[in-house]
Amino acid sequence: MSTTADIIRANKEHTIASWTAQNAWNPITMDHAEGVYFWDTDGKRYIDWSSQLVNVNIGHSHPHVIKAIQEHIARISYAFPSIATEARGRLGELLSEIMPGKLSKAFFTNGGTDAIENAIKAARLFTGKQKILARYRSYHGATFGAATAGGDPRRHGHGPGIPDIIHLPDPYAYRSPVYRGRTQEEGDLIMADMVEEIILMEDPKLCAAILLEGYSGTSGVLQPTEVYWNRIGELCKKYGLLLIVDEVMSGFGRTGEWFGINHYPAVEADIMAVAKGITSGYVPLGAAILSEEISAYFNDHPFSMGLTYSAHPLAMAAGVATIEVYHQENLIEHSREMGKVLRRGLMDLAEKHPLIGDIRGAGCHQVIELVKNRDTREPLSPWVGGFTEPMAIVNKTLREEGMSTFVRWNMIFNCPPLVVTEAQIKEGLDIIDHALTKIDSYYEG
Ligand SMILES: Cc1ncc(COP(=O)(O)O)c(C=O)c1O
Repeated sequence: MSTTADIIRANKEHTIASWTAQNAWNPITMDHAEGVYFWDTDGKRYIDWSSQLVNVNIGHSHPHVIKAIQEHIARISYAFPSIATEARGRLGELLSEIMPGKLSKAFFTNGGTDAIENAIKAARLFTGKQKILARYRSYHGATFGAATAGGDPRRHGHGPGIPDIIHLPDPYAYRSPVYRGRTQEEGDLIMADMVEEIILMEDPKLCAAILLEGYSGTSGVLQPTEVYWNRIGELCKKYGLLLIVDEVMSGFGRTGEWFGINHYPAVEADIMAVAKGITSGYVPLGAAILSEEISAYFNDHPFSMGLTYSAHPLAMAAGVATIEVYHQENLIEHSREMGKVLRRGLMDLAEKHPLIGDIRGAGCHQVIELVKNRDTREPLSPWVGGFTEPMAIVNKTLREEGMSTFVRWNMIFNCPPLVVTEAQIKEGLDIIDHALTKIDSYYEG
């Protein structure tokens, strides 16, 4: 049996960690996990406050999904993508039942970033146009096309990316100067009008699609209101652009609806990208889901995209079982209800800690943004550059006290598995309370 030190040494000596200088990689180990908790190899328990990478929506080690995976591998270990399997057809059916609007046919990928790549390709093939409009403060994945579409500063240094991506300014109500002295709805309308201006400048005849996260995630849960979304829907129709909705993080109950876009019933997506919660992370899987009209186009035109592991039988079985769990355990409603409990708890923390400048999100998908001063809103850590001292203290304290979550820039993400209970929310918030108490003195009020 390897010791914790052995495990970490082997990981660090022979494997590369994502998004970090390797010397700064200081991993927690994982021995086993259940529900909202996991245990390291020394037996220390962590509350999983970010559902790992906001994907373990049904919680760890769910017996229904584990059984489905085990039974399926015993029958079929691999089938190449042109073979039809029962699980693949069933997952397609289950997805089409929960998809909003006219989304009906899934092309299966290995994860989120390739769901986005293929969504962009499908939009370009269908429209015969090239330009894709996407927000600066968004994350769509790490492969070249998806990373170019996202505006996350981590893409800098990778080179020029793919051509014909146009970035849009963000409806960031808490910080954008457009919102000063205005309500969020008033600011959102101006931001959407600016999108129209950009479409006109870029020439609608060259613009294939607008790509937006159904509910903003990694960039800080920067979500505009219905006013913005409805106007974006109208602009797509007016100028003949498709709407690609990225639900990789916000899908499958995360925000208390099946998909983030469900918060805006008047808006119809033409293509949706999903991943993460589709299997709750148990097996890698993503999908680009096409509307009836776009799918019909590919009846007579080649769908010139493919992946060796598209529709892998294990992923199909895991997807079917995971969606069954969402239904059987009413997890979408549960996420909505727990979201209210979480929001009340975060608001109580804000009363106690003036460092909390803003709270955003819905369901099990909420963020707090920390500031030096509530009037100036100066962030406790900048958008570009490393952690400042207080954020490093928060990060360290959360971990010491047994919480694993995302701490990015000046934000703490609160995204537990959807199965979380009220008592577990209290437990998590108590840990955050302790961590914030340690840095209260950095407030410059
Ligand atoms: C909104 C969104 N899109 C795409 C991706 C990329 O997904 P993956 O990491 O599975 O490639 C992510 C990952 O966090 C995401 O949050």
